[in-house]
Amino acid sequence: MKKRVGMLTGGGDCPGLNQAIRGAVFKLESLGYECLGIEEGWKGMITGKASPLTRDNVEDLASRGGTAIGTSRTNPFKKDGGPEAVLQTFKKLKLEALIPMGGEDTLGVAARLFKEHASHVVGVPKTMDNDLSATDFTFGFDTAVTVAMDACARLLDTGRSHRRCMVLEVMGRHAGWVALYTGIAAGADYVGLPERKVDVKELARAVQAAHDRKKVALVVVSEAVEIEGGPKKREELDEFGHMILQEREVGEQIAEIVEEETGIETRHATIGHIQRGGHPTLFDRILATRAGIRAAELVHEKRWGQMVALRGNDMVPVSLEEATAKLKTVTPEWFSILDTLCRTPRREAVRAA
Ligand code: F6P
Repeated sequence: MKKRVGMLTGGGDCPGLNQAIRGAVFKLESLGYECLGIEEGWKGMITGKASPLTRDNVEDLASRGGTAIGTSRTNPFKKDGGPEAVLQTFKKLKLEALIPMGGEDTLGVAARLFKEHASHVVGVPKTMDNDLSATDFTFGFDTAVTVAMDACARLLDTGRSHRRCMVLEVMGRHAGWVALYTGIAAGADYVGLPERKVDVKELARAVQAAHDRKKVALVVVSEAVEIEGGPKKREELDEFGHMILQEREVGEQIAEIVEEETGIETRHATIGHIQRGGHPTLFDRILATRAGIRAAELVHEKRWGQMVALRGNDMVPVSLEEATAKLKTVTPEWFSILDTLCRTPRREAVRAA
């Protein structure tokens, strides 16, 4: 009988998951294993819902977005009997190993299962937020930023025509990578990151100066940004204890502030889940495929409790515990790059002094 490997995708979906599944299935089959797709993340490991994944049924996933096996934000450690049910499913489905693909939450569950129950798990990191510290990049990020960058170009066209300031709110949770890369790549005049509070006066000065020069201004803000002195919004938490950010309407608040402070007509857009759909970029397809293949190799080598990470251009194993220990957030070197590019007047004055 062939050894059997399950795989699941948990947390918010992102472009690249299907390519990682495809890579893992191709490699595992070539090594003599059979594969099962566990449905809807950790939920499937509680209910035992799974179906076969074969070379034939994953072949056409090379360019498709989303995840063919479904996802959820289920946390077995937050459910009565959850971990026991997961261990039971391992036995019932006769799994030699499980490859969970996810961000810090999904992989955090895997890390605990390995630590507390010696479960045979090998992780694949994914998240459009790019906030996993053990890997240089996660797949999903490049596509999300590419989509947001395109949205900025479109906003600038209409904004320029109407002599307006345009505000784009992007996702990214508590790490500002998506806003940072989008803002830099699109030539934004102000970028709001969760790692530093938005100073209203500084925002207004940046927008005003850009508008004086170009008759248009572009602001990119992360969904989790805090506004100095701004209102506190209702906080709803998911099963992993993370704030659900979609209700905050930060982009709208920023647009109102800009209009009030500068008198410049301002419009806002929230790109939201559009960033998570569609065909993955070349970078994400290659990274995801390599991650899936490398994870399959680690299963074959019995490297339990490990996760595949991109370091430079190499795919290396790192411990799941290390990978999920702390979030990777935007560092001060990036603030200085942003300040150079965004030409915020007060900061320029400070530098000149
Ligand atoms: O973690 C990925 C992410 O897209 C975040 O950037 C965002 O805050 C969240 O997921 C949205 O989650 P949901 O799809 O559950 O609304």
